[in-house]
Amino acid sequence: AKKAKGWEKKADKKVERGAVLGAGIMGGGIAYQSALKGTPVKMKDIAQAGIDLGMNEASKLLSKRVARGRMAPAKMGAILSSIEPTLSYDGFDSIDVVVEAVVENPKVKHAVLADVEKKVSADTVIASNTSTISISYLAEALERPENFCGMHFFNPVHAMPLVEVIRGEKTSDTAIARTVAYANAMGKKAIVVNDCPGFLVNRVLFPYFAGFSGLVRDGADFQQIDKVMEKWGWPMGPAYLLDVVGIDTGVHAEEVMAEGFPERMGKNFKAATDIMFEADRYGQKNSKGFYNYEPDKKGKPK
Ligand code: 3HC
Repeated sequence: AKKAKGWEKKADKKVERGAVLGAGIMGGGIAYQSALKGTPVKMKDIAQAGIDLGMNEASKLLSKRVARGRMAPAKMGAILSSIEPTLSYDGFDSIDVVVEAVVENPKVKHAVLADVEKKVSADTVIASNTSTISISYLAEALERPENFCGMHFFNPVHAMPLVEVIRGEKTSDTAIARTVAYANAMGKKAIVVNDCPGFLVNRVLFPYFAGFSGLVRDGADFQQIDKVMEKWGWPMGPAYLLDVVGIDTGVHAEEVMAEGFPERMGKNFKAATDIMFEADRYGQKNSKGFYNYEPDKKGKPK
């Protein structure tokens, strides 16, 4: 495989305009972060309800900054209006980087990527926020795979400093350089990594989730596991973290990781996330996961 390094010498233009596909937890968070740090962004979804949620979340995060005295009230409107919600691809030919953040399903991602590639310019970089799906595999849907890479944010986007930029087999140095520049402009620390299911962080994190599920299967209480891991020093135990990430996303990602690394994922038993998923418990996003939440209240219930 090509080395992750080698792109640094590639000077590229500043990202003037970004776009995000999917206004869910991740897409909405990425659009907010882009706007907050000064890069105007289109936020496209297929449903008005999705867009409303994304805009609402951005607006809440900005109000919190104002209430804490971290932002002048007058600035809030300008930032909010630099997020352009849209249901169409109009104007996508002038976008420098499009971040795809739709559902973690390879078929849907292939279709969306093929679709957006027809709407952007030959120079636009398309970056997928996939958690686990190989970038070289996603690139098979594209006619210009050199313009494509991974740009993996972590949840909650505005609070987590790291972004993984993933180099697929055909990704160009220019695409990497521009995506790193966009991540930096958003105030994030970018690392460039090679491609494999789960990249770097989730290749470490998902076997940990599998270990958690194994313990639950063996009869351990998830709340106790959380307490122990939090005492041990992690900011969130695994059950609560899965609620924050989204159980549905967790289940999709576990499938990809189990296919890529069957020996590490122990998929020969029903994972705790599968049980939650089948009970329609998706985590904080629908107020019920391992824990029950009050809508609009962040934080683990006591
Ligand atoms: N859900 C959403 N946002 C939350 C949250 C929650 N449960 N808990 C806290 N936050 C937000 C707060 O709103 C706050 O934002 P603000 O500054 O705008 O108010 C910000 O996080 C910091 O919160 P606090 O000041 O209360 O700080 P904490 O010390 O409680 O830290 C945290 C919060 C940064 C979220 C910390 O608990 C943490 O680091 N948790 C681990 C998160 C993590 O590991 N994320 C990666 C998940 S894996 C992933 O996303 C990859 C994917 O591909 C699967």
